[in-house]
This record gives sequence, structure tokens and C-alpha cells, in this order.
Amino acid sequence: MRKVLLVVAISAIILVSLGLVALAADKVGCAACHTGNYSLAKEANAIQGHPKVADNANYDACVRCHGPNSKWPFGPILHKGHLVGADNHFITNYGGDCKLCHVLDANKGTFTIAK
Ligand code: HEC
Ligand code: HEC
Ligand code: HEC
Repeated sequence: MRKVLLVVAISAIILVSLGLVALAADKVGCAACHTGNYSLAKEANAIQGHPKVADNANYDACVRCHGPNSKWPFGPILHKGHLVGADNHFITNYGGDCKLCHVLDANKGTFTIAK
């Protein structure tokens, strides 16, 4: 009987952990994390000296200035902002997972951005 309870308890713990992993993995794309006080517009407008952007500016609005061939390409900027620093919350809270921003289409072999 005790063993059965232990198995039940351990299964419950495993199921809950899997659920948490699933929840974190669901936050794919900038907009999944960057809402409300953390919207992309608020992030940009909080940077000293940054040109003011509209309150509803989304990823497409950012890449008008931060396109791959611009002077300020988003790749290096965002990799630094999310993947560098021991106390970076993207690493501590989300495991620094590339796939939260990049989507690999295993059929076409394309590597696109999840906005
Ligand atoms: C899974 C959640 C998550 C996703 C997806 C995500 N971010 Fe972030 N972002 C964060 C967190 C957490 C931080 C704060 C990092 C820190 O602790 O400094 C952050 C910081 C930022 C910052 C400010 C830091 C800096 O670079 O100066 C910008 C701008 C930003 N994100 C833009 C984006 C864009 C654009 C995308 C989509 C391509 C994106 N983020 C996807 C969680 C996320
Ligand atoms: C009108 C052009 C323009 C638009 C639109 C724009 N940016 Fe920028 N951004 C810049 C310029 C210029 C710089 C470099 C100068 C600076 O750091 O202020 C920059 C730098 C940045 C940096 C790096 C700051 C640093 O030095 O660490 C981040 C992060 C950033 N932008 C985020 C965003 C986000 C998020 C958006 C969309 C909501 C956005 N930007 C839209 C022009 C723009
Ligand atoms: C916060 C979102 C985010 C995360 C996390 C992220 N990337 Fe990126 N990455 C981008 C964006 C946005 C671009 C620019 C795409 C564009 O301009 O078309 C980019 C560009 C790239 C490029 C093209 C070269 C460059 O620097 O522009 C490579 C390669 C790349 N990422 C690999 C990775 C790998 C590997 C990881 C995980 C270790 C990762 N990225 C994590 C958002 C992210």
C-alpha cells in the first residue's frame, strides 16, 4: 500500500514538472513574453537615446530599422540581450532556448523568427 502511494506521489510530481516544462515551452514568439509592461515598445522606449516608437510597435515595426542589412541588425542585439549575463531572466526563467524565437521547419529546412 505504501509503495503504491509512493508511486502515485512520484507520478504526480513527474506530471506536474512536465506540465511546467510545457507551459514554458508554450511561450514561443516575442509577443508571448513581451506584453503589457514588457511590450516591445516599452522595451525600446526604456532604452536611453533610442528613437521613440509607437505604443503598439511590433516585431515588424522594429525591423524597419533593425533588419538584417541595417546598421543595427536584431540578431546580435537580441542574442546579447537574451543570452548573455549570469542573471539574465531569459536564461534563468526560460533556459535560454533558441526555439522560443527561432522556428525550424524540418520539411523545408527554413529557420524563421517566431514573432
Ligand atoms: C520566452 C520569453 C521571451 C521571448 C520569446 C522573447 N523575449 Fe525578449 N526578453 C525576455 C526576457 C526575460 C528579457 C529580460 C532579459 C534580462 O533579464 O535582461 C527580455 C528582454 C528583451 C529586450 C530588452 C533587452 C535588450 O536586448 O536590450 C528586448 C528589446 C526584447 N527582449 C525583444 C524581444 C524580441 C524582439 C523577441 C522576439 C524575436 C523576444 N524578445 C522574445 C523574454 C523573452
Ligand atoms: C526609427 C528606427 C528604429 C526603430 C523603429 C526601432 N529602433 Fe531600436 N534602435 C535604433 C537605433 C538607431 C539604435 C542604436 C542607438 C541606440 O542604442 O539608441 C537602436 C538600438 C536598439 C537596441 C540596443 C540598445 C543597446 O544599445 O543595447 C535595442 C534592444 C532596440 N533598439 C530595440 C528595439 C525594439 C524592440 C524596437 C521595436 C519595438 C525597435 N528597437 C525599433 C533605431 C530604431
Ligand atoms: C530573443 C530571441 C532570440 C533568441 C533566444 C535567439 N535568437 Fe537567433 N536571432 C533572433 C533574431 C530576431 C535574428 C535576426 C533575424 C533576421 O534579421 O532575419 C536572429 C538571427 C540569428 C542567426 C543569423 C545570424 C545573425 O546573428 O543575425 C543565427 C545563426 C541565430 N540567430 C542563431 C541562434 C541560436 C543558435 C540561438 C540559441 C543559442 C538563438 N539564435 C537564439 C532572435 C533570437
